[in-house]
Amino acid sequence: MNASNDPESRFKQAAAYRAVEFVRSGMKVGLGTGSTALFATRRIAELLRAGDLRDLVAFATSKATDREARQLGIPLLPDDLPHDLDLTIDGADEVDPELNLIKGGGGALLREKIVAQSSAREIIIVDETKISPRLGTHWPLPVEVLTFGWRSQARFLEQLGASWTIRQNHDGAPFVTDSGNMILDCHFGPIADAKTLAGELAGRAGIVEHGLFIGLATDLIVAGRNGIRYHSRNS
Ligand code: A5P
Repeated sequence: MNASNDPESRFKQAAAYRAVEFVRSGMKVGLGTGSTALFATRRIAELLRAGDLRDLVAFATSKATDREARQLGIPLLPDDLPHDLDLTIDGADEVDPELNLIKGGGGALLREKIVAQSSAREIIIVDETKISPRLGTHWPLPVEVLTFGWRSQARFLEQLGASWTIRQNHDGAPFVTDSGNMILDCHFGPIADAKTLAGELAGRAGIVEHGLFIGLATDLIVAGRNGIRYHSRNS
């Protein structure tokens, strides 16, 4: 797949191709969701077709990625995820200096987090617009909630300081996640203590998952006007 001429797409593709350099034959690889991760999935398929990668098996972070991978002929692990993964390549909506993330702009946060926590390495690929001094500055926090009793979760989120909107499809109908839930996009503004907020959200029945990924990313690849930057949590 070629990136279109717009710089953002070219940066996304560049970050994705750099990440795929970490993929080796025989690995179990998580495939992320969204426009950036799609470049990586397509690149992996290309290398498999060319014989440059062999014996690789993948696991998708969403139904959309699963469909794409099947069409591209990438072998996939079954849905029960029988093995941990060597690495996952995924995008993000916002990345802070500690490599903490907001994810879920595509609505796949639950499966993305399940896959991230089962991966030895979680390589995040972004264009430079995603870099932020503090999570919540540029992007609302997606919170996946059960439809049962959802207004109670909405009130809880207000008590935590958020205003919220229901995620909608283009036709105005409520967005439904791969697990059949709804998403409340929560505007907190810059989040002072993302780790504490993550704990508060995790402790609330009815909140299925939230888009704060704290301590899960191991590697970050950022592509922008000045080239590609690589950061490792360990460096
Ligand atoms: C999907 O739910 C998200 O977490 C994506 O990884 C994130 O929204 C980044 O998407 P883009 O690569 O399309 O910007």
